[in-house]
Formats: sequence, structure tokens, C-alpha cells
Amino acid sequence: MRHLLSTQDLTREEATALLDDAERFEQALTGREVRKLPTLRGRTVMTVFYENSTRTRVSFEVAGKWMSADVINVSASSSSVGKGESLRDTVKTLHAAGADALIVRHPASGAPAQIADWTTDSDGEGPAIINAGDGTHEHPTQALLDALTLRQRLGSLDGRRIAIVGDVVHSRVARSNAHLLSTLGAEVVLVAPPTLLPAGVGEWPVTVSGNLDAELPAVDAVMMLRVQAERMNGGFFPSAREYSVRFGLNDRRLAMLSDDAVVLHPGPMLRGMEIGWSVADSPKATVLEQVRNGVHVRMAVLFRLLVGSDSAGAQL
Ligand code: CP
Repeated sequence: MRHLLSTQDLTREEATALLDDAERFEQALTGREVRKLPTLRGRTVMTVFYENSTRTRVSFEVAGKWMSADVINVSASSSSVGKGESLRDTVKTLHAAGADALIVRHPASGAPAQIADWTTDSDGEGPAIINAGDGTHEHPTQALLDALTLRQRLGSLDGRRIAIVGDVVHSRVARSNAHLLSTLGAEVVLVAPPTLLPAGVGEWPVTVSGNLDAELPAVDAVMMLRVQAERMNGGFFPSAREYSVRFGLNDRRLAMLSDDAVVLHPGPMLRGMEIGWSVADSPKATVLEQVRNGVHVRMAVLFRLLVGSDSAGAQL
């Protein structure tokens, strides 16, 4: 693995190995007074974010620091991007400055793949590129941390039924999860109004429903998506109120889930819109477990890309 651009590039074995390594890193750090492993000493990791982030940027920084990498954070708003520098010149500059890995969030779908192309030389050498969310395309490390959370709560994902609910058309989380969860053996159902489904959804490994109430009793997990108003150019159909009534996970709907079913949300949450205030804090909700797992999954990804394909187990 040279880069992590899409969950569609991961085999079941590769994805499972990353989840196993994430758990190894968690175990290796549990109970330590000093959470520091020497694994990436001497390596330089740069986060390059052209869109806002709390969870992804911070957890990549924590992951790198817990593995002793030098971590540099570059945000478009405070860099020379503001003076008009192009994306190509920016990433080639960061590579020249010593980046072993570039962790990229960008509003354009496909930007990380383009960066991988620009920064790979004729010998196939260059920094590892990690997609930290590109437009409406993919967010692979989010899907990996979601899969780890589901595995810890449900056991094997084989045959598990997982509903992904809401604003699918704007969601890179939905696409990455649809492919990864399917690769790991789950049945994925997208629950959304037709206006919030992407063109080409028929090629995804999923079924589609418009009736949340009908789906809830039969699912093992429900993943609520944030309504991404910033990608809607001011328009929103159905209306926010109608959306919340038809597709919001409220207390009545929470009670329709089976005893063992869980509720995921990638964050940031819009409480009162796609998820109820008390639902977000209920024992079924895994929101903060997902954040914690995000650090360990990102450690596993950095290890795999910067150290090699062997399991982290031998080093821990
Ligand atoms: N889930 C997620 O990507 O959150 P951030 O936008 O805060 O990174």
C-alpha cells in the first residue's frame, strides 16, 4: 500500500489487518503513563487541510505524536494558499520541505489522487498520501474507524445489516462506508429521500429505502449522516423541518431498534436535526468511541504506509 485514497482499494484482508493493528496500538498504549511509541521517530507527517475539521485533523496529529513522528499542520487559511499559490505548488513545496506523508482534506473530489500523481517521481518514490476527506467522494479513515467501532460492539460484520441514513449525496462518509462495510461482509441499506441520493447509487453495493421506520427494527446499526447545508447552495429539499420529522433519529425511533443495535454518527452532529439530543447521549450511541478509535486507526494507517506491510504486532 503506497497511499490510502479510497476504501474501494482495500481488500477484506487489508482492511481487517488495519483494524487488527489499530487494536494492537490501543492495547500497547493502555495503562501507560507516557503515551509515546518510537515507531515513527525521524519521520515527518504533514496535515494539509483546505476544509475545516476537528476530529480528523486532531486525531491524525495525536496519532503521529503518539508514534514519535514530527507532525506539522498546514491550514489553507494561514498558508501561502491565501496569496494565490496553487494546490500543485503547495504540495510539491511540502514534499520538498521533507514530508514523508501528506494527510489531505480538500473540497474537490479526487484532489488526493491528483496529489499522489504530482508528488510521485519517475522511480515511483514520493510521500504517502492519505485522503482525509475529498469533496463528496471519500473519507477512508472515517470508514475504518466506523468499522472498528462496529466490530467492537457487534463482533464480526458478516451478515450484519447496517443502515446509513440521510444526506447521502453530499456524504463522503457514506460512500467510504458503503464500500468498506460491504467488503467486510455487512449488508448496507441507504435510507434517504430521493433528492439526497447520488446519481450512480445503483452501482454501490447497497440497497435503498425511503422509509426509516420500516428499516429500524431489522438493523444491527444505524449510521446517521450530518445534513451538509454548506454543500447545498442555500437550497434544501425536503425542508429542514420535514427532513427532521421523516429522517431524524428521535427517541421514538430509538426505541424501535433491537436491544443490541447501536447508533453511529461521524460528527460533527446537528442535534435536533438528524439526531435527537438525548439519542446522541444514549448508551446505544458510539460517537465518542468512534473518536477514540479514530486515533488508533490513524496510527495503523500511518504505520502501514510509512513502516511497511507487516503487522504492527512484531513491533509492539
Ligand atoms: N468526521 C469528521 O470528519 O469530522 P471532522 O470534520 O471534525 O474532521
